[in-house]
Amino acid sequence: MQSAITIASLALLSFLPISSTTQPVSSGSQPIAQEDEKSPLADAMGVLKHGQRSLKKAIKDPVANKAGILETLSAMEGATLRALALQPPLPEGMTESQSPLFQVRYRIQMTALLNTLLEMEQASLKDEGAKLPELYKALTAGKKGGHREFKED
Ligand code: HEM
Repeated sequence: MQSAITIASLALLSFLPISSTTQPVSSGSQPIAQEDEKSPLADAMGVLKHGQRSLKKAIKDPVANKAGILETLSAMEGATLRALALQPPLPEGMTESQSPLFQVRYRIQMTALLNTLLEMEQASLKDEGAKLPELYKALTAGKKGGHREFKED
C-alpha cells in the first residue's frame, strides 16, 4: 500500500512544472534598482565585502577563530552562488551578439571565486590554517580581476 502511495506521489510530481519544484533561476534580466535601492548583485557583493574584511583579521589565528571563519565562508559561498545566477551590467556599446561570451567570462571568474572559498573552507575544516593566507591572496586577486572586467566605475 505504502509503495502504491509512493508511486502515485512520484507520478504526480512528474506532472508538476519544473518551476514549481525547483528554485527560480535568473530570468536573464535583473530587476531595475530604485534610486537608493541596491541591485541584487550589489547586495551579494556587500556580503562578500564584509566577509573579506572579517577573514582578513580572523585568519591570523585560524585555530581560535575556526567557527567564525567557517560561518563567514558559508555566508560568502551563499552570496557567490547568488551572484552566479545574476548577470553583471552590460558595458555600454556591447551588442547582444557579444553578450553570451561576456556572460561566460563572468561565470568563469565567479566559479573561480567559489572554488577559492571552498578551498578555504576545506583548509579550515582540516585544521590546515597555514594555507589560509595564500588562499586569501587568491580571493583578493579574484575580486580585482572580476571588478576590472565587470564592475562599472
Ligand atoms: C571577495 C571578492 C569580492 C568582493 C569583496 C567584492 C565586493 C564588491 C563591492 C563592495 C561592490 C560594490 C557594491 C555596491 O555598489 O554596493 C561590488 C560590485 C560589483 N562586483 Fe564585486 N566583489 C568581489 C568579487 C567579484 C567578482 C569575482 C566579480 C565578477 C566576476 C564581481 C563583480 C562585481 C560587479 C559586476 C559589481 C557591480 C554590481 C552592480 O553595481 O550592480 N565582484 N563588488
